[in-house]
Order: sequence, then C-alpha cells, then structure tokens
Amino acid sequence: MSLRKPPLPRLLLDNVSCIRNAQQILRHVNASIHDGGALVLTGTNGSGKSTFLRMLAGFSKPSAGRILWNGHNVTKSGVFSQYKLQLNWLSLKDAINDRFTVLDNVVWFETLEGKEGKSLPALQLMGLGRLAKEKSRMLSMGQRKRLQLARLLAIDRPIWLLDEPSVALDDDGVRLLEYIIAEHRKRGGIVIVATHLPIQIEDAMVLRLPPRFPRKMTYIDMLDRGELM
Ligand SMILES: Nc1ncnc2c1ncn2[C@@H]1O[C@H](COP(=O)(O)OP(=O)(O)O)[C@@H](O)[C@H]1O
Ligand SMILES: [Mg+2]
Repeated sequence: MSLRKPPLPRLLLDNVSCIRNAQQILRHVNASIHDGGALVLTGTNGSGKSTFLRMLAGFSKPSAGRILWNGHNVTKSGVFSQYKLQLNWLSLKDAINDRFTVLDNVVWFETLEGKEGKSLPALQLMGLGRLAKEKSRMLSMGQRKRLQLARLLAIDRPIWLLDEPSVALDDDGVRLLEYIIAEHRKRGGIVIVATHLPIQIEDAMVLRLPPRFPRKMTYIDMLDRGELM
C-alpha cells in the first residue's frame, strides 16, 4: 500500500460564490482541477460565465468561499502576484492595436514576457503567417480571434482562461482552437473555457450555470407559438 498522499489539485474552488451589482451571480461552486485538466462553463447569455472567469483572473473577489492555487488562497496579495503569472487571458476585448502589424501585436506580448522567437511560428500555425507584416486594422473578426490564439501560444503560460474563444472563428479556426487546447493539456496545462457554443474538449468537467432570471415571454416564445409568422 502506498502511503503517498494524492497530489493537491493545482486549482481548487471551495464553495465559491460571487456577487456583482448587489446580485448573487454564482452560488457555492466547487471544482478541483489538476494539471492537464479542463473546465467548461456553459449557460445562457447573462448566466455568469464571464463573471466566473473574471473572478478566476483576479478582476473580482469571491463574496464567499476560496480559490486555492497549489493550496494557497489567490486573494492574498503575495500569492496573487505569483498566481497571475500563470494565467493567459483571452476575452472579447482583444487588445489589438490596429496601427501595429499583425506580428508586432503578438511580439509585443511575447517581449513583455521576456521571451522571443515564438510569435511568427504561432501566427503561421493559426493561418496568419502571410498577413504577419500587414497592419492589424485589415483583419476580419475571425482573424483577430486567431491572432489572440497565436498570443496564447507565444506567451505560453500554464493556465488558460478563455472567454468565448470560438466566437467569430470559422470551422477550421474552431478545429485549430480545439487542437491547441488538447496540445496544451498534454503538456500539463490547464484550460478553463466560458462558452455558449460547443467546443470539443475531451474529458472536460462541464459546469452549466443556471439562468439568472425566471424566463419571461420573449420573441422566441412567440416564434415558437407561430405568433410572429
Ligand atoms: N460590469 C458589470 N457590472 C454589473 N453587472 C454586470 C457587469 N457585467 C455583467 N454584469 C451582469 O452580470 C450578469 C452575468 O454577466 P456575464 O458574466 O457577462 O454573463 P455571461 O458571460 O454568462 O453571458 C449579467 O446579468 C450582467 O448583466
Ligand atoms: Mg460572457
């Protein structure tokens, strides 16, 4: 019999709740995520997916419960300064400077990280290699999303927090997203994704957030009843 203790989860959500604008958005969420693990947050618009992710990124604090990284509470400032260096954040605000070239918009982030050499290969993998020298303002929505995915690869931090990463991507783009998530997890990385669209992620824990308000009559109901024909 082995006396070794099971390893601590890298991330542990212990009874976490979150209040925003005086309203309870998340209630008593528990999850443990080990290296290579994936958590998918689903739910209708407004159910709290982005709020959840923003809390994990440290933009807001839990109103109750704890978020533990390697067993330490991330809201403690000494811990947070280390924890935040583990995070790669992708959201609908793409932080792309339209006057920079496509390549410089990735290199800039890589340089801040004290790294070099991965930006162009990352753009090539995302199908943007031929646009690397173009100004970013000419990118389509889907291409901007691919640029953000290239940043994830160039920066290469262990915990990915992805808010609606597949929005605006075409079918090939979604397959690329699924591929880089799988590869990241094979290397022990963690992926937490908020999405209302299906993304294939093997063996992911799925947390479906309930709608926040009782559903009232909407155009959808009227369409369903044939009243808008
Ligand atoms: N900046 C904000 N201040 C206050 N309430 C907000 C803010 N952003 C979002 N909310 C509210 O929090 C709830 C959850 O929003 P959000 O987490 O963005 O949902 P989702 O990502 O699931 O669509 C919504 O009711 C929304 O109106
Ligand atoms: Mg959202």
